[in-house]
Amino acid sequence: MSAAVPTVSLRPEVDMPQIGLGTWMMDDGTAARLIPEAAAAGYRLVDTAARYGNEAGVGQGIRSSGIPREQFFVTSKLTGRDHGHDKALAGYRTSLETTGLDYLDLFMIHWPMPRIGLYVETWQALCALRGEGRVRAVGVSNFLPAHLDRLAQESGVWPDVDQIQLNPRIPHREWREYAQQRGVTVQSWSPLGKGGSLLQEPVVTSLAAAHGKSPAQVVLRWHIQLGLVPIPKSSHPDRLAENIDIFDFRLSGEEVTAMTTLAGGEEPMDPETFEQDLAGSWQR
Ligand SMILES: NC(=O)c1ccc[n+]([C@@H]2O[C@H](COP(=O)([O-])OP(=O)(O)OC[C@H]3O[C@@H](n4cnc5c(N)ncnc54)[C@H](OP(=O)(O)O)[C@@H]3O)[C@@H](O)[C@H]2O)c1
Repeated sequence: MSAAVPTVSLRPEVDMPQIGLGTWMMDDGTAARLIPEAAAAGYRLVDTAARYGNEAGVGQGIRSSGIPREQFFVTSKLTGRDHGHDKALAGYRTSLETTGLDYLDLFMIHWPMPRIGLYVETWQALCALRGEGRVRAVGVSNFLPAHLDRLAQESGVWPDVDQIQLNPRIPHREWREYAQQRGVTVQSWSPLGKGGSLLQEPVVTSLAAAHGKSPAQVVLRWHIQLGLVPIPKSSHPDRLAENIDIFDFRLSGEEVTAMTTLAGGEEPMDPETFEQDLAGSWQR
């Protein structure tokens, strides 16, 4: 196992590991097989979603890992078709039934879908779940600053987490700083740029060589040093172990800045227009 993973505090007595395992594109069987491997490598945060169709495998992997449930931090997300107060409560119950877990550590609204216009009401249902102690923390995903503001104005509650598409090519500096300054912890989805050409960028490969680390480790370290919580996905045990082995080196301030110069190299998804499970063919 690699060096100890630091945690970030979401709320009193709710700490979340600063790196987690993404599971998008894993089927039930893969998730069930890989989670014990990931747990042995040191992962305790696992990210799933109703939309991924693998909540059952995630629950199974946690149970078969040999590690007590309460040592994990399990996250799932409400899908687009379940916006609205009652549907959101039912969606949470379904996630519990499918995972076979008694509670989730963090439950999030997957996309705001502003044209549907139900995200505030949906958010209020999640806040009620947290108030009743049925979930430890509540959050959102892909919520722009304007969406976060509206939640705070209309419910008086800032989310514990906003999970957004973020990597050195899409650094979203203003967005992440806006959230962080209001106590909203930012998780990075697709933190490795989906394992594509980001990992071959000369600035990344030269820093990797200088630190004796892999390109993926240097990119993940960049997230950590910006106070972000990356959730890289891998289906390979060796890469799972590599991705969490990032707590024994530091990038200098200049090196962090050098990686941020990659900004603009990738087109991010647009939370204003993406309508999950309703109209588009996008499926995340
Ligand atoms: N909230 C949202 O709307 C949203 C959207 C998308 C994703 N997510 C979450 O974020 C997680 C991560 O995002 P992601 O899966 O899109 O992308 P990612 O974690 O940036 O990249 C995953 C890809 O990188 C490869 N990879 C992993 N480790 C590597 C390494 N050390 N060296 C080289 N390649 C490596 C993987 O291949 P192998 O599997 O073959 O190793 C996989 O193809 C998802 O799994 C999901 O949990 C959330």
